[in-house]
Amino acid sequence: MSHIQIPAGLTELLQGYTVEVLRQQPPDLVEFAVDYFTRLREARAEAACPPAAPAAPAAGLHEPGPAPAADGDGDGDSEEEAELEIPIPSRYNRRVSVCAEAYNPDEEEEDTDPRVIHPKSDEQRCRLQEACKDILLFKNLDQEQLSEVLDAMFERIVKVEEHVIDQGDDGDNFYVIERGTYDILVTKDNQTRSVGQYNNRGSFGELALMYNTPRAATIVATSEGSLWGLDRVTFRRIIVKNNAKKRKMFESFIESVPLLKSLEVSERMKIVDVIGEKIYKDGERIITQGEKADSFYIVESGEVRILIKSKTKTNKEGANQEVEIARCRKGQYFGELALVTNKPRAASAYAVGDVKCLVMDVQAFERLLGPCMDIMKRNISHYEEQLVKMFGSSLDLIDPGQ
Ligand code: CMP
Ligand code: CMP
Repeated sequence: MSHIQIPAGLTELLQGYTVEVLRQQPPDLVEFAVDYFTRLREARAEAACPPAAPAAPAAGLHEPGPAPAADGDGDGDSEEEAELEIPIPSRYNRRVSVCAEAYNPDEEEEDTDPRVIHPKSDEQRCRLQEACKDILLFKNLDQEQLSEVLDAMFERIVKVEEHVIDQGDDGDNFYVIERGTYDILVTKDNQTRSVGQYNNRGSFGELALMYNTPRAATIVATSEGSLWGLDRVTFRRIIVKNNAKKRKMFESFIESVPLLKSLEVSERMKIVDVIGEKIYKDGERIITQGEKADSFYIVESGEVRILIKSKTKTNKEGANQEVEIARCRKGQYFGELALVTNKPRAASAYAVGDVKCLVMDVQAFERLLGPCMDIMKRNISHYEEQLVKMFGSSLDLIDPGQ
């Protein structure tokens, strides 16, 4: 049987065009295509040869914390890091956004670079493995890829107030945090504000390497700390290539998640780039009521029970009993409440049977899910009602802070 090979990038190209046609409803499809692709070519040429004084990256960021500003119209008019806004002919009075770099890992240079190896002692290797065990970007790597990544990583000790990354710089390394606290600062319109913190866990510095854009934020150590760096070449060779595989694996599922329907295709693909898949066994606890929160979950397969502790119902040992308040199934999400309200987890979540979840860290949640915030807040407003309906009064329930 003959094998037809779809050129790399064709699907994304046509998808981008189709989405714009659906949004703009132009009267003449051919004329619109000429305009669209001409502008795309110009934008690419510009991205390939940026002006001498590079503009600070546009960071379409949302405030972290209790009430992140929502750009609920989902029309893509908001600025976004890693994207070029391309003016559409005035008669359409809209703008099209296109990925600054044709995101096409298949076109990456051949693997001619020698493999990077930073020798490590057993003790260092142990610490490195511990720091990397929850890194979402590493979750879908196979064993061989993961060991290549770990071999290439190097230790970097940082002092208080040290700038690990400066906004606007070219990207050199991706970093995994072993310890230390770090501020995330974004300068926009000459104003610098803190958009979040890392507290002894997590990773940063992936955006500039994934999308070939300037650094989108400044990262400053607020304590002494220790990081594990991964050089740009190895990151692109392994993580970015693996993301192409992830896109194929999760694209259709992500398209089907009701919460994400209002996002543009390119926004959904950015979600795929940063999520990690986690697998849970029957009965395993995914979220613990009262704990600090740093992740958001979408059920990919299986079922998740949400349980909340009751003040009045106790078990034989006298401990407060948990009562089931909800179930989340394929395509549904949970774990958003604590991230939106900046409070501890309001309930616990357990796997029913084998469960797969797509997991996003709080920084990506705030950066990418701003446009879905209205929907989430609407659902949150039903939680209290739901509890009152189930228990007569939510006063019967343990305050999640306890
Ligand atoms: P990069 O742009 O390579 O360098 C700065 C890093 O800060 C960025 O990748 C992300 O990993 C991290 N970051 C965390 N929160 C944000 C945010 N709200 N906007 C931009 N970058 C962020
Ligand atoms: P979070 O508080 O981060 O962690 C527990 C999750 O349970 C919570 O986010 C919601 O996503 C989910 N949940 C479902 N129903 C309720 C409810 N009635 N009250 C609180 N949380 C709920």
